[in-house]
Amino acid sequence: MYQGAPPWDTKISPPELFRVIDSTPPGNALDIGCGTATNVITLAKSGWTVTGIDFIRRPIELGKKKARLEGVNVNLVVADVTKIVFEEKFDLILDMGCFHNLSKQGRIRYIRSIKDWLNFGGYFLLYGFLKHDGLQAKRGINSLDINNFENFLILKNRQAGIDRSQKSSWFIFQKGDGHQVDSQSE
Ligand SMILES: C[S@@+](CC[C@H](N)C(=O)[O-])C[C@H]1O[C@@H](n2cnc3c(N)ncnc32)[C@H](O)[C@@H]1O
Repeated sequence: MYQGAPPWDTKISPPELFRVIDSTPPGNALDIGCGTATNVITLAKSGWTVTGIDFIRRPIELGKKKARLEGVNVNLVVADVTKIVFEEKFDLILDMGCFHNLSKQGRIRYIRSIKDWLNFGGYFLLYGFLKHDGLQAKRGINSLDINNFENFLILKNRQAGIDRSQKSSWFIFQKGDGHQVDSQSE
């Protein structure tokens, strides 16, 4: 997977992340499926305390090397998002390209974790391919996923796009007032 240059490893952070960085005081951030840590390093350079996790060792090693070269202090961990436990909470959680590939059970665990890990007022930024007919059966973010996130988060913004000929979308969620609902459809 990390032999050569994967197409998503653009080494450039997206404007959607910069918009949140520019409008939010720095805090504690988590990048899920961080790859080679491009966005972890962007956040750290803007004053955030950042943890990045990826279940493949190679990108984490590459990310640590990049962070050293950039002179930033970050916490990069080899871990599966559907298994890891965090005691700390986060003000910003970012996922570019991880959630959309998880199994049904993995998504259920993931969504419960986001609920636990995100601080009140915190942002959850999700980017991925949307479920559609041309996509492999398991892949893609579907409307049930979004409903499950909306049980405890407010969807502030949604921006559709096309990524490598496939439908994709950004979802900007915030944990806010009056959304403490426990139910989750399966
Ligand atoms: C499409 S890549 C995107 C990497 C990075 N977010 C970026 O935009 O440059 C998705 C990443 O998610 C990681 N990943 C997939 N499933 C994961 C899981 N269950 N736990 C942790 N990382 C996972 C992959 O190893 C891969 O590095």
